[in-house]
Amino acid sequence: MITREQVTDILRTVNDPELHRSIVDLKMVDRIEIDDGLVEIGIKLTIPGCPMKARIESDVTKAVTALEGVRKVNIQFGSMNQEEKAAVRSMVLGQPEPEEVPHIADHILAISSGKGGVGKSTVTANLARSFAEKGYKVGVLDADVYGFSIPRMLGVTTKPTVVDNMIIPVEQNNIKVISMGFFVPDDTPVIWRGPLLHKTITQFMTDVVWDNPDILLMDLPPGTGDVTITIGQKLTAAQLIVVTTPQVAAANVAGRVAAMAEKINISLLGVIENMSYYQLPDNSKEFIFGQGGGQLLADRAGTAFFGEIPLHRIIREYADSGKSLFDQTNTDHLADAFRVISDRIAATF
Ligand SMILES: Nc1ncnc2c1ncn2[C@@H]1O[C@H](COP(=O)(O)OP(=O)(O)O)[C@@H](O)[C@H]1O
Ligand SMILES: [Mg+2]
Repeated sequence: MITREQVTDILRTVNDPELHRSIVDLKMVDRIEIDDGLVEIGIKLTIPGCPMKARIESDVTKAVTALEGVRKVNIQFGSMNQEEKAAVRSMVLGQPEPEEVPHIADHILAISSGKGGVGKSTVTANLARSFAEKGYKVGVLDADVYGFSIPRMLGVTTKPTVVDNMIIPVEQNNIKVISMGFFVPDDTPVIWRGPLLHKTITQFMTDVVWDNPDILLMDLPPGTGDVTITIGQKLTAAQLIVVTTPQVAAANVAGRVAAMAEKINISLLGVIENMSYYQLPDNSKEFIFGQGGGQLLADRAGTAFFGEIPLHRIIREYADSGKSLFDQTNTDHLADAFRVISDRIAATF
């Protein structure tokens, strides 16, 4: 007579091929039923459609079949819910169970991109200014810990103050700003290990006195790394906005971020296309990088397309020197591109 304990014990020897831990410890074994020589096992995968499914299936079958008296092994696959996945992550990273951070803003917009250099920070900074101009209370969290540029783009030159373990963000033109750039000396490369990154980002959410802004914009690192996962876990209210350039190839890269968002349960709010065209003096447009990538990505991901930002020397100059496009008549037409987009975003609130 085979017992559940025997089956559990033998399953302890089966490791998840990617996480290299026993599937029993990872709580992937959901159910064991034994009917004479027939063993039925329910396995919960961390990712539905996990590419390692076949491998797990054969490893489990092999291990259990080796038990005396087993005639047949039936495996049923299911997938873990968000909470169970978070518990796996905590176990693997040796962190305590993540708690949700308290409500920090009415709308949390996480700005992301498939790769660097597409203007994610430029878009974040200008949207912040545009929302502030509309009278919203705005916070900006520069979570791009590998390439913080938000303080410079928003013209922030002072550092935040720290009082009794509370971080008071710098406030400039009604925008509250926090960046890792405030806490490391200039030009020092920061080497991040996963847990430290997780802790720092969490601190930026829990220890910063955001004072309940209407909108918190987050400039995320490009791609699908640890920061994005932490945000997905901690800030379940966060919504993702993906920035891409118009090339179809770039849109495909950005599409991976959209796919990842779904996997980690961040809702995708929409797509912004940057560097869409160059405006010639006669007002015609030259599509230097091709056309349509942003719309294509939005269509494929089934999300909103918020609009296009032209490629313009002044956008770069102002971003790099921290000047605002929003308070001068000669740059007003450029600010308009961001105003249109912030209007469309606000229409989703
Ligand atoms: N629409 C634009 N027109 C001109 N220059 C731009 C535009 N968007 C971004 N840039 C410039 O391109 C460079 C990269 O932009 P940045 O916002 O730092 O990208 P990311 O944050 O995606 O790495 C910066 O020098 C920025 O000033
Ligand atoms: Mg950037």
